[in-house]
Amino acid sequence: MPRPAGFDPKDQICIVTGGANGIGLALARALKSAGARHVALADRDAEALAPAGQEIGGLTFAIDVADEAAAAAMVARVEEEVGPIGLFAANAGIGRPDADPADAASAPLSDFEDCFRVNCLAHIAAAKAVVPRFRDRGAGWFLATISAAGLLSQIGSAPYSVSKHAAIGFAESLAYTVRDQGIGVSALCPQAVRTAMIGENPEDNLKGGANVDGILEPEAVAAAALKGMAEGRFLITPHESVRGYMTHKAADYDRWIGGMAKLRRQVL
Ligand SMILES: NC(=O)c1ccc[n+]([C@@H]2O[C@H](COP(=O)([O-])OP(=O)(O)OC[C@H]3O[C@@H](n4cnc5c(N)ncnc54)[C@H](O)[C@@H]3O)[C@@H](O)[C@H]2O)c1
Repeated sequence: MPRPAGFDPKDQICIVTGGANGIGLALARALKSAGARHVALADRDAEALAPAGQEIGGLTFAIDVADEAAAAAMVARVEEEVGPIGLFAANAGIGRPDADPADAASAPLSDFEDCFRVNCLAHIAAAKAVVPRFRDRGAGWFLATISAAGLLSQIGSAPYSVSKHAAIGFAESLAYTVRDQGIGVSALCPQAVRTAMIGENPEDNLKGGANVDGILEPEAVAAAALKGMAEGRFLITPHESVRGYMTHKAADYDRWIGGMAKLRRQVL
């Protein structure tokens, strides 16, 4: 069975995790505007989920997305009450800073575990629930919001970087295993996006943007995600510079590590 050429939201039933805020809510809005039939939202932030759900008009699930049973129950309920899911957007995520910016191993192991659970295991739990259904129908799209930190690294947050690299690993594995089954997979990898995740004064927090190439609005990232999926792309990089950095990294890893050390000195 050929891989679908791309994802068209029109008349689709979608689930967006982390949909109460930030990039997830922007994705849900963009999917609705592009003609999606139903967009269900999942988020552990029940307070923000209620108004977001009212605005988007679909089912809401106040769950921890890394809870395998809760993720499976959500997928089953959407399929029973609404219909076959066309898109699962695994978008919820968390960050944890290094305890000592000069030491990548300084954050407590529990911070590494928390990031791994939400930023990677939740994607696997979602895929366990939804991909067999996609496979039965020979159709479906899995969008993983990861980060440029999964391709390059996030200065000041080893727990985040490690978990996002793991998420890239899973998305790649998923993409090539389901490629011949009519199922699409995309990995959305922005640098900085203006959401709660980067704080109230992101320009200050990010030291004048020295370690990022501009802060994008969540709406721009959502638009890039829809465009990338429409084109059937695996890797979606809303910041143009990311692919260039990947090329430099692959061409000379030692030079890249040296460049990151220099950038770390500038930023911190
Ligand atoms: N903001 C950025 O600069 C940036 C850059 C690259 C990638 N990302 C990624 O984009 C995604 C969305 O983040 P955002 O920037 O919109 O941040 P955000 O904090 O605005 O949104 C994240 C959402 O995920 C939810 N969430 C977190 N853990 C959860 C859990 N266990 N179960 C259910 N919901 C949970 C939060 O409640 C929140 O609504 C994340 O995966 C993040 O890592 C963000």
